[in-house]
Amino acid sequence: MSTPTSDILIIGGGVAGLTLALMAAEHFSVTLVRPEHDEKGASRWAQGGIAAALSPEDSLEAHIQDTLIAGDGLCNEQAVRFTVTHGPEAIQWLIDNGVPFTPDTTDGARYAYHLTREGGHSARRVIHADDATGRALIDTLSHKAAQHPRIHQRNDLTMLGLLQDDDGGCRGAYGLDAQHQLHRLTAYNTVLATGGASGLYQHTTTPSPSSGEGMIMAAELGAPLMNLEFQQFHPTSLYDPDGPAFLISEAVRGEGGYLLDEAGKRFMPALDPRAELAPRDVVARAIDAQIQKSNLGHVWLDIRHLGERAIHHHFPTIVAHCAARGMDITRQPIPVVPAAHYSCGGIATNHQGATQVPNLYAVGEVAYTGLHGANRMASNSLLECLVYARSCAQALREKKAPHWKNSTPSGPERLATLSPPDQDMLMALRHELRCIMTQHVSIVRSSAGLKTAQHKLAELSMRLNEGPVDQCSLEGIQLRQALLLAKLTVAAAVTRRESRGLHYSTDWPSGQPATAPSCLTLADLTPGTVA
Ligand code: SIN
Repeated sequence: MSTPTSDILIIGGGVAGLTLALMAAEHFSVTLVRPEHDEKGASRWAQGGIAAALSPEDSLEAHIQDTLIAGDGLCNEQAVRFTVTHGPEAIQWLIDNGVPFTPDTTDGARYAYHLTREGGHSARRVIHADDATGRALIDTLSHKAAQHPRIHQRNDLTMLGLLQDDDGGCRGAYGLDAQHQLHRLTAYNTVLATGGASGLYQHTTTPSPSSGEGMIMAAELGAPLMNLEFQQFHPTSLYDPDGPAFLISEAVRGEGGYLLDEAGKRFMPALDPRAELAPRDVVARAIDAQIQKSNLGHVWLDIRHLGERAIHHHFPTIVAHCAARGMDITRQPIPVVPAAHYSCGGIATNHQGATQVPNLYAVGEVAYTGLHGANRMASNSLLECLVYARSCAQALREKKAPHWKNSTPSGPERLATLSPPDQDMLMALRHELRCIMTQHVSIVRSSAGLKTAQHKLAELSMRLNEGPVDQCSLEGIQLRQALLLAKLTVAAAVTRRESRGLHYSTDWPSGQPATAPSCLTLADLTPGTVA
């Protein structure tokens, strides 16, 4: 192999991957591997919007302070300042690229676009495209990427691992096509934009979230993973046992929605002065407690008092989805439950998205930048995708191309095809994995519960290792990756001997004075328990 497939390989086609592809393609050849359908991944389903200090009534400092408060003492302040400061220019880039943000048409509006409010924000600062911001971003950016002569898109591959050279650097990735043919895509620099790990849980806010596959690919090359214990549960996903996963945006509470208990009474004002707009960890825990003590299985989110016109104006997507599921939300409160939504932890990266593995970068939810701390503030995630994709593109532009050795990087020679019974068995094991994580490693945790999770995950590994299934198959590799990430998540939760942000344990009090982000590598898993 004398030359790489492309200068830059990007795996993941959400907002982070697309932004990086468009910016990097100004200078380099780019291969962008994305799923055939945008329904996969989380970006498309983001409703609320992007947080940035845009209004003259807001300030960068206020956005910084709100983010630090929501992060419950565990944000990296430098990362927060870096992200927030670069927010307005990232939004301007989107506007220049034609993203159809909702204008503010009110008389005397101080900013051209409507800004909504969400939990933890002390000002209106969330720019949005109705209640389908992710869809607007993906449609606009993917259209541009499809037309770009230097972006070569591969929609036919599932990437399974990274290629490594003799010096430990990343040289690209390998994956399978639908016919189970193995493909190696080589590149000077590789960027993971593969999303978070909410797919480790049973109930999620998006229909097919990732399960941390990208995090494990990086960990396999030695990259540390940080703050995995901070898995965010969005307080309000639609309670619809027979329907698809569906988020009810925090903007619904931002525009004045009330959370009601079984008896139809508001419960948040008694718990927190910020009431329904307290940070997500606080609201999700309060809802979980209500659900535990009622027979309803959910709480209510009521917006009837906003009036039919305002509801249709602000939330056309939510109105339409609920109507299709038989609910008229202008006349009845919405049944809601918390669901796994966002991974605050991920691959340790710097401000340019560089990991500790040479030539390997990570941007978006797969990365840990230090921005979110112990709890992500609403709408800071798309902001992070944009800011770090842009700074990563700039860093790649300024970087000298790594020396390309004329040798074949590591990686498997063959991958197996599974028979239907083996696929069924793997699906059953994956279901068990999700049940374990949901029962023991979700909104409220305990030391005993985490210990049980450790035992059950170890037992699951044994069954996977000893079963008849060929693990060199797509499904086998992906389940193994999910199991590894689940184990690392539990290990991180066990080591955090305090309750903080999204990690709430009945055995540990809130906020120990000395705290630090957790940081684990695959070597930290007890020998013998590696899946
Ligand atoms: C929402 O609309 O509530 C989701 C936005 C986010 O998670 O930041």
